[in-house]
Amino acid sequence: MNAPVTTNNLDAFWMPFTANRQFKKSPRMFVSADRMHYTTAEGNKVLDGTAGLWCVNAGHNRPKIVEAIRQQAGELDYAPAFQMGHPKAFELASKLVQLTPPGIDHVMYTNSGSESVETALKTALAYHRVKGDGSRFRLIGRERGYHGVNFGGISVGGIVPNRKMFGTLLTGVDHLRHTHDPDRNAFTRLQPEHGVEFAEDLERIIALHDASTIAAVIVEPVAGSTGVLLPPKGYLKRLREICDKHGILLIFDEVITGFGRLGTPFAADYFDVVPDIMVTAKGLTNGVIPMGAVFVKNEIHDAFMNGPEHMIEFFHGYTYSGNPIASAAGLGTLETYQDEGLLTRGAEMAPYWEEALHSLKGLPHVIDIRNIGLIGAIELEPIAGEPTRRAFSAFLDAYNKGLLIRTTGDIIALSPPLIIERNEIDFLVDTLSGVLKSLN
Ligand SMILES: Cc1ncc(COP(=O)(O)O)c(C=O)c1O
Repeated sequence: MNAPVTTNNLDAFWMPFTANRQFKKSPRMFVSADRMHYTTAEGNKVLDGTAGLWCVNAGHNRPKIVEAIRQQAGELDYAPAFQMGHPKAFELASKLVQLTPPGIDHVMYTNSGSESVETALKTALAYHRVKGDGSRFRLIGRERGYHGVNFGGISVGGIVPNRKMFGTLLTGVDHLRHTHDPDRNAFTRLQPEHGVEFAEDLERIIALHDASTIAAVIVEPVAGSTGVLLPPKGYLKRLREICDKHGILLIFDEVITGFGRLGTPFAADYFDVVPDIMVTAKGLTNGVIPMGAVFVKNEIHDAFMNGPEHMIEFFHGYTYSGNPIASAAGLGTLETYQDEGLLTRGAEMAPYWEEALHSLKGLPHVIDIRNIGLIGAIELEPIAGEPTRRAFSAFLDAYNKGLLIRTTGDIIALSPPLIIERNEIDFLVDTLSGVLKSLN
């Protein structure tokens, strides 16, 4: 049995991205989870409308993942990640690169999305250098982008509160303008019609710095943490063309879009645009064990495979890169995805999901609804002078009514496990409807 939760033992843990004082006055504790639902300390069931934090794509407590972890812990708990190997890390890598677009057949492991981002940025810089093009040192991100919380990621990222406390960040970074354009695109289903021209901002940045100084551009194919911004039609293809024209690497941060979220294995498949590097984490292990993966095009990998064979080719890696238990969890996760067709199930459910979400149009304070795959966003008009308060109230009310949503600014973001059924979508939308109707 879980120990009873009391409010007087919560002080020590300084919680991440949390209103700590509010939480500790009125804690929300999950004590167990199964498939689509959490159970709270009070014994209430809460529908998981967010797949944890966009990571529990196969739902909770999945037997193959649980069993893989159990077995691995008793067989080989840890093996050094440097100069030694163990079979499951290689097995997982081989299986993963069968899912990636052709020509992306190599993968490096990390322990989180943030570390995957740092790995990708460093790989891009080092790639140009091993090719003798060391003047390409600039990294280009995008306004409103989220690439985790480490220094590289917040430097290329564009979410102001995540950046403003932390000094000068990385130098040599610039940002594309964001693509949010509610005046032209509000309530669009799937990709916005307007905004392909935002990609031309990359030409402006290139004209300013010169292409010969730019190593890579990093974007989320669908921006999640900023409140779900979809790429306008043609935008990602245009970014790809401009990068190709100027010898700049294109990095897709697929930490939330990877592993089936859009109804395809990766966003690269959905948008039919192949990046040079793909950053992943979250759904790789169904969120159960921390693990990330960075996929690189073969020519990037091959450029490093030079010099004397006893020499380390890339001075980068983590103590837990490809950790045996994480690798086992990854294998159990892939098997679950494949057994149940979860990497494409989002495509089947997307039309129903879209209809259900857009039925909320016209409710109080709703100024935009966006959707793609099994992602949804409902943007609320902020209370004047009190940004985030309205959405936070919605979050608390939804939780009390048995639904977990996520809010960012005044936007409700939804990303349920890919096993969600129609009646659960109905519950989610009916509950949200009740929440929205009673909001101040
Ligand atoms: C696009 C993107 N990149 C990176 C990250 C960072 O991942 P982590 O929290 O595992 O470090 C996230 C997390 O939400 C994300 O959405």
